[in-house]
Amino acid sequence: MSAFETIIYEKDGGGVARLTLNRPDKLNALNLTMRDELWSAFEAFRDDPDARVLILRGEGRAFCSGADISEFGTAPSYVEARRARHERDLWDLLLHLPKPVIAALHGYALGAGLEMALLCDLRVASDDALLGLPEVGIGYIPSAGGTQTLPRMIAPGVALEMILTADPIDALGAYRIRLVHLIAPRDQLDAVAGGWARVLAEGDARALSYAKEAIVRGLELSLRDGLALEARLAGEVREGRPA
Ligand code: COA
Repeated sequence: MSAFETIIYEKDGGGVARLTLNRPDKLNALNLTMRDELWSAFEAFRDDPDARVLILRGEGRAFCSGADISEFGTAPSYVEARRARHERDLWDLLLHLPKPVIAALHGYALGAGLEMALLCDLRVASDDALLGLPEVGIGYIPSAGGTQTLPRMIAPGVALEMILTADPIDALGAYRIRLVHLIAPRDQLDAVAGGWARVLAEGDARALSYAKEAIVRGLELSLRDGLALEARLAGEVREGRPA
């Protein structure tokens, strides 16, 4: 169970772990404490053989309204902030979790909130969801991976439009550009994400892990190197290397 201040991490008995962003009075804005707690929870999920699928969701009326803007400019220095990010790359940890991760989005999914979801494998949105990267509009650029993940996920021209205009899109718009895989009525979002998670939790964990690794790591490679990676991982699956 959870001993965190800004998140809730819990597991059911069937291999599904749920991580809930839990600062509802601040629309689950991502602050430094939440970053630290996410790090611990992602590690706990990664290392727990009984946790086979993770659902990332938000408490209250939003999934996550982005980085906590009240903390902007509070890092001791730019160099310090960069060193901290390098030593504890939360987004790299999330992207490379060796098990499926599902984001369940409702209300606002903005800035780092949307970027976090882009580092998950599957995205379900409720029909009231509003997704966007508002950073450029307030003098920043997306910095939780969004400038790299979004154009790899949807058409690069559409990613440019979303980032440069900073205009949010609704759930249907997000579905049309394949930014989310499914839309559910608000009151059924958890059930839909949970149903998907259960199917995956009952799947072949090793095969899922290898397939995810092949895709996530392969996206960073040329086709030739990606095919070599696939051949190597396929061999390891056959030979039974532990996942
Ligand atoms: N950082 C810090 N606090 C935030 C926040 C954020 N990103 N997003 C919302 N909050 C806080 C608000 O300050 C408010 O706190 P308060 O009740 O103590 O004043 C509370 O969450 C509720 O937000 P509020 O603005 O009253 O809700 P709303 O429904 O009127 O508007 C948003 C919702 C998301 C449109 C608006 O909060 C907003 O624009 N937030 C900033 C989004 C953003 O720029 N994110 C990216 C940062 S790079």
